[in-house]
Amino acid sequence: MDHLSLLPVDFAWGVATSSYQIEGAVDEDGRSPSIWDTFSHTPGKVDGGDHGDVACDHYHRWPEDIELMKRLGLTAYRFSIAWPRVFPGGTGPVNAPGLAFYDRLVDALLEAGITPFPTLYHWDLPQVLQDAGGWANRDTARHFADYAACVAEGLGDRVKGWATMNEPMCAAWIGHLEGRHAPGLTDVKAAVPASYHMLLGHGLAAQALRATVPDVQVGIVNLLNPVEPASGSAADAAAAERFDGHTNRWWLDPVFGRGFPADMLEVYGVDLPEQPGDLETIGAPLDWLGVNYYRPAVVADDPDGAPPYVRETTPTGRPLTGMDWVIEPEGLDDILTRVAEEYRPPRMYVTENGSAWTDTVEGGRVHDSDRAGYLEGHLAACASAIRRGAPLAGYFAWSLMDNFEWAAGYAPRFGLVHVDFATQRRTVKDSGLRYAELIRDHRQRTGA
Ligand code: IFM
Repeated sequence: MDHLSLLPVDFAWGVATSSYQIEGAVDEDGRSPSIWDTFSHTPGKVDGGDHGDVACDHYHRWPEDIELMKRLGLTAYRFSIAWPRVFPGGTGPVNAPGLAFYDRLVDALLEAGITPFPTLYHWDLPQVLQDAGGWANRDTARHFADYAACVAEGLGDRVKGWATMNEPMCAAWIGHLEGRHAPGLTDVKAAVPASYHMLLGHGLAAQALRATVPDVQVGIVNLLNPVEPASGSAADAAAAERFDGHTNRWWLDPVFGRGFPADMLEVYGVDLPEQPGDLETIGAPLDWLGVNYYRPAVVADDPDGAPPYVRETTPTGRPLTGMDWVIEPEGLDDILTRVAEEYRPPRMYVTENGSAWTDTVEGGRVHDSDRAGYLEGHLAACASAIRRGAPLAGYFAWSLMDNFEWAAGYAPRFGLVHVDFATQRRTVKDSGLRYAELIRDHRQRTGA
C-alpha cells in the first residue's frame, strides 16, 4: 500500500478497547456495579442474556494481551478506565487497588514501548450515581471531574494523552432516548440534560487534567457519520439534515465553542439546563479530536418516532459487514476532511474503526479476509484525508480482540484477535497479521 507513505513518520499505530467490554472481574478489588452490570443483567436487554462478568478476562490476562500488542507491532493502545473501580462510591475516596490495576497496565505498556492513551469514560457509570439521577443530574458532571483529577494524579506522571469521553452521543441518545443501552431510558426530557451534562463533564474534566498533568494533551472521542437520505424525497433530505444535527453537530459545535445547534434545540423541544460559564467550559480549546467511524448513516423520515423523527435504514445493493453496516471507506475520508475544514481541530486521530463478522478458527488460523479488506480500505482513506489537509496523527483499530458488543452481546466479533470465550484462548486473525505487516512496512519505510 504505497499511499501509506503519506502517513507521518510518528503516526500512532494502535488498537482500542474499553473497560466493561474486556475486563471482567466485576466484583474484584473493590469495584462497584456500573449501569452496564445492571442493564446487562436485566432480562431481555442484551442478546443471548450476555453480560460483562468475565468478558475477555483482561483484568487477569493483561500481560498476555500486552504480549499480543507487541506481536502486532503497535505503538499506542487506547483503553478506558472504569470509574467504579476507582471511585466505587461514585465520588471519593479513591479505591487504591482499583487505580493500581491501571498503574500496572501503564507501566507494562511503557515497558513494551507502547504509548498508553486512556479514556476516562466509556459508558460504565457507577450505578450509585445513576441512582442519584445519573447524567441527567448536574452533580454527575462535577463528580466526573473529581474522578478525572484523581486518575490524573495517579497516572499523569507517565500518561500525557487523555480522552475525557467516548461517544457521549451513544451514551446520551441510545441510553436515554432509544433505551437500547444503559441506563435504558426512553425520555427526551432526560436525554437532553444528560447530553448537556456529559459535555459539561467533559469540559470540567479537561480543566482538571490541565491543572494536574504537565504537558497534557486533552481530547474527546466522537462517533461521527456522514449522513445520506434513503430516497430523493424532500422529507428524507430534511431527515438527513436532522440526523446530522443529532449525531454530529450536537457533539461538535459546543465542543468547538459554537454553542448547541439552534435547529436541534427546536427539534428536541427541551430547554438546556444552562448556567453562566457552562458554554465556555464546554468549548475550551482541545489538543486533539478523536473520530470513531464505522459507516455512513442512511436515513428516512419517521414522523411517528421519537425526536429527531428519523429512522436508520439498511440500503440494498451495497457491501455490508456481518452486522449489516454499510462498508464505505470514502465516508471516513469525507468525515475527516469535513471536520478538519469546518472545525479546525489542531490534531485528529481515528480513535476507532473496524468491522464485525462471525469468524471461526480453523487449524489455528482465522481467515478473515473481509476484515483485512475493510482495514486496508480505511487506512487508504486516512492517507487520502491527510492529502486533503486533515491533521491526522494516528489510527486505532477497533478492536484488539473480540469482546462484549453491548446490547448485541458476544456474537459480533470486531477483534483483530479471536477470543474463544469458553477457554479465553486468543488467536491472532489474518487481519491482525496484515495490520502488523502494514505497521512494519510503514515504520521501515519512514525510518520510525
Ligand atoms: O463496541 C463499540 C465501542 O464500544 C464504541 N464504538 C463502537 C464500537 C462498535 O459498535
